[in-house]
Amino acid sequence: MIFRQFFDSVSSTYTYLLASRRGGEALIVDPVLEKVDRYLQLITELDLKLVKAVDTHLHADHITGLGALRDRTQCITVMGEQSGVDVVSMRVSEGERLDIEGVSLDVLYTPGHTDDSYSFLLPDRVFTGDTLLIRGTGRTDFQNGNPRAQYESIFGKLLKLPDETMIFPAHDYKGDTVSTIGEEKAFNPRLQVRSVDEYADVMNNLNLPNPKMMDVAIPANMRVGLAQEEIRRRGWAVTATEALALMGQPDVALIDLREKHERERHGVIPGSLHAPYPDLQEKIRPGGILNDLASATGKRIVFYCAFGERSAMAVQAAQDAGLSSACHIDGGFSAWKKVGGPLD
Ligand SMILES: [Fe+2]
Repeated sequence: MIFRQFFDSVSSTYTYLLASRRGGEALIVDPVLEKVDRYLQLITELDLKLVKAVDTHLHADHITGLGALRDRTQCITVMGEQSGVDVVSMRVSEGERLDIEGVSLDVLYTPGHTDDSYSFLLPDRVFTGDTLLIRGTGRTDFQNGNPRAQYESIFGKLLKLPDETMIFPAHDYKGDTVSTIGEEKAFNPRLQVRSVDEYADVMNNLNLPNPKMMDVAIPANMRVGLAQEEIRRRGWAVTATEALALMGQPDVALIDLREKHERERHGVIPGSLHAPYPDLQEKIRPGGILNDLASATGKRIVFYCAFGERSAMAVQAAQDAGLSSACHIDGGFSAWKKVGGPLD
């Protein structure tokens, strides 16, 4: 496996790049905006294709690189289902898996630092965000933080992992780079408590100053900007209500870009075809299955995904490939459900 740890010295943030092989798909965890050029340089050097960029939670101390990575690589942007961040194109929840070619992460909901905090688990290591740090834990005094929820996340989930599991956190302020579950159980001073009450007491009395960037970073990270705004402006979008009338039309092909687990969990639009977003490029180029479908049958391609973000990028790619009738459902499956669209 290719595994790289990057450090942003301004915010003391760690960012992780994962891939199963040179030339393969890659995933990045907690990218920092100012470091995006560096990540992309390494991604090019290792001949990787960035397909997913993940934030463990809404960061208060730096601006996320999710938007810039989306704009420059058309990757899928991922956060937990609680996230209200606009740039997110795929939301995951406890028990799901986050997959790229050759790498599959278990999704653990670990709230407490914030109410949208997630950890991502591989067989030998876990990315803990700000839930569990090296000899510390993430503060719980803002962004709907909750020390009791954090105690449950740490003691009820993370510390139940095998002792040898490596911990890769989102931050370290002392220069440590990695720890293990066993080490943190034994030596993390915050974890040497006898009860949830004692833990809450410790966390409620830290009296930390707010992060320097907080007033800038939180609003900036909430509204990074949508891919679908430009697509709407170009007239390549239909509303969910308009899409209702297109369903079942013989000259329309509805294409679902979501992944299998999203379809199973949330349902699909009846009669739609499945073409997962990461493989889209090969399907829309001349000779690709969607290109053939559109040119041979004259069908209008209507993409949809979860929230309209992946499908907006797909419309742009399809238009670039010459599929001039391609459009998408603005707001995606979420908007479809809101207007009472039928589900399979
Ligand atoms: Fe944080």
